[in-house]
Amino acid sequence: MKKLLLLFLFSPLSLLAQTPKETPHWRPAYHFTPQKNWTNDPNGMVYYQGEYHLFYQHNPYENKWGHMSWGHAVSKNLVDWEHLPIAIPEDSVWIFSGSVVVDENNSSGFQTGSEPCMVALYTADYHDGKKEAQYLAYSNDRGRTWTKYAGNPVIDLHMTDFRDPHVIWHEKTQNWVMSVVFPKEYKVVFFTSKNLKNWTRVGEFGDQGEVRKIWECPALVEMPLEGNPQNTKWLLFISTNGATEKFEGMQYFVGDFDGTTFKNANSPETKLYVDYGKDFYAGIPYTDAPENQKILLGWMSSWQYADAVPTYPWKGAMAIPRSMKLRKTVEGLRLFQEPVSMLQPKDTYRVFEKSDFVFSKEKQLDGMSLFAKNSYMVEIEFELKSAKDFGLKIARKKDKMDDKKILQETIIGYNRKTEQLYIDRTKSGLMIKENFASIDKADLKLEGNVLKLKVLVDKSSVEVFANDGKVAITNLIFPEENTNMFSLFTASGKVKVKYLKISDLSR
Ligand code: FRU
Repeated sequence: MKKLLLLFLFSPLSLLAQTPKETPHWRPAYHFTPQKNWTNDPNGMVYYQGEYHLFYQHNPYENKWGHMSWGHAVSKNLVDWEHLPIAIPEDSVWIFSGSVVVDENNSSGFQTGSEPCMVALYTADYHDGKKEAQYLAYSNDRGRTWTKYAGNPVIDLHMTDFRDPHVIWHEKTQNWVMSVVFPKEYKVVFFTSKNLKNWTRVGEFGDQGEVRKIWECPALVEMPLEGNPQNTKWLLFISTNGATEKFEGMQYFVGDFDGTTFKNANSPETKLYVDYGKDFYAGIPYTDAPENQKILLGWMSSWQYADAVPTYPWKGAMAIPRSMKLRKTVEGLRLFQEPVSMLQPKDTYRVFEKSDFVFSKEKQLDGMSLFAKNSYMVEIEFELKSAKDFGLKIARKKDKMDDKKILQETIIGYNRKTEQLYIDRTKSGLMIKENFASIDKADLKLEGNVLKLKVLVDKSSVEVFANDGKVAITNLIFPEENTNMFSLFTASGKVKVKYLKISDLSR
């Protein structure tokens, strides 16, 4: 018996038994995923010579976290990505998160040709909790190949937790500014430099807002006020605990930054969240995006269950890039986010439009090939009538024998009593871990009886943006194959749909 077991373990048969089944039905069509193997945070987002770069935390060898290196892809429209070879591979250290800048004036001296070089600043992690320090690498061929700087590390405080440098050019002080975190102290530390190699510690900000989890992936960005672009404020993003206890998410602070000090415009207790779902983390804005656009890209997963994500041969995806606005509201200055405008159907025949109809209970939209691939965008405007709870049910499957019995569905709804928008994924398909089933809610008071939603469905994810991007909820789902029915619903009473547009975004 023992012999037989040994024979099996070392046979090709056992290899076959260990290889997971491929899951193309969960591979997003218009969201970034690596061709194969693991990804977590997006890194080094910069726009240069017509290309949006996306480097990403990547394990080149396995479909799980480890061997951290920078994977690489480029895109002209932030939707269709060209995969490139590994940009910065691990060596004796792992290549953790960081950022890339274009060194226009060759302040670093690394430029070799006539074009500016790109400079990456990232965390080198010395495994086993020994040390984290900040390293530099540069590229003179539009990010295709990278040279690790011989003088690394550029910042070493001999700390075990010290990571995720984000570098910007600060025009007023003519300095490079790095934000980097002491995760366990809930603190961002600012360094400045003239040449990207020698850094001086100049300030810090911390222990405010959301501190229920360690702080990671900081990013500073100067944002014009909508409608008054001369007037700007600084946003400081931190990845930490999200809106739900025990789950990751992102917060932002609004304030002023003078090149060394960040002043929070709100009280230290104020908590502002970027997204109210479970699957939006480590988001960083693009540097140098055209027309001064502010675009945020985040990882669409959660450390609470990322390892249990059942996709193969890849694991991990990026959320849709979001175009950000800073808008005055009655509550104060708030971040508004919407999917980037480049997200469009390829052809007009892939669009269904309808307006001004009232419905109650359930209105199933049948026979539309639009839904067949579960990769689409819904833009809908509701005018409230008597319905107390209403919305959409997507990725549905009914029992073949009993039409009334719903086997799977994800509900995107609005509850008027609680004044909350929600995604209910408790029946969305595979519950990949015991903490996966959830109803995620965001407070949203409606003005003028109108609710506008943009809902992005892409096979294994749902992102909802409400009322011009006032709140966002992002969640993963794992419906079975061919689970793609779609309906509008009210729990009681009626609602009017002023406008409905569904765009097929399958590729
Ligand atoms: C955030 C993070 C970063 C770190 C990277 C490692 O998700 O933990 O702090 O640099 O992932 O992969």
